[in-house]
Amino acid sequence: MSSLGHRIFAAVYDPMMAPSEKGALGELRDDVIGRARGTVLEIGAGTGINLRRYEGVDRVVLTEPVAPMRRRLAGRLGDARVPVEVVDAPAEHLPFDDATFDTVVSTLVLCSVADPAAALAEVRRVLRPGGRFVFLEHGAGEGRRAVWQRRLDRPWAAVSAGCHLTRNVADLLPAADLHPEEIRVLEPRPTPAIILPFRLGVAVAA
Ligand SMILES: C[S@@+](CC[C@H](N)C(=O)[O-])C[C@H]1O[C@@H](n2cnc3c(N)ncnc32)[C@H](O)[C@@H]1O
Repeated sequence: MSSLGHRIFAAVYDPMMAPSEKGALGELRDDVIGRARGTVLEIGAGTGINLRRYEGVDRVVLTEPVAPMRRRLAGRLGDARVPVEVVDAPAEHLPFDDATFDTVVSTLVLCSVADPAAALAEVRRVLRPGGRFVFLEHGAGEGRRAVWQRRLDRPWAAVSAGCHLTRNVADLLPAADLHPEEIRVLEPRPTPAIILPFRLGVAVAA
């Protein structure tokens, strides 16, 4: 996507998400972020919608590779109640040592990364043994919805900064050696049906 496209997407992101955030999506974010413990990495932190939700953790490192998103995130750092740091990095190449984090968080990110398998391998690498990957991701549905998701995947990605409709995080975890502890398949409203269902889950780095 062009830099103008990234700037536009960053500018419209919060207003576009606001109706869903006030509904069930905000509650699902509370649930996911409430599971974070210790030293936390959040990948693809975007405009920092999750930031104010962190409490009782040691510190949070927020990675975000897109400059217009990072600028908005920087403007939100005052919302944080725990020590935070912003790092410019794609999820596929995390600039951290092995076994650095107790928790890695991803909300609505694996739909957008260029290589989700590489991103999950990096998540696994930077997690300490026994550390947890907690996620809220939208992706592949079933039946007629899946047909429409496949049809619309390419045009959707073109207008939404590379977001794909057809990915299923649950299918990608085993290859990254992340062991699902819990996966809930959800239909939060109001949310456009084409991006449902959401998958909220926890996977453990053995
Ligand atoms: C739909 S937004 C979600 C933002 C935020 N996580 C949230 O829950 O609102 C997707 C985010 O993933 C970021 N992103 C895109 N490619 C990425 C990559 N390769 N690695 C990490 N983040 C990426 C985008 O810049 C954007 O901030």
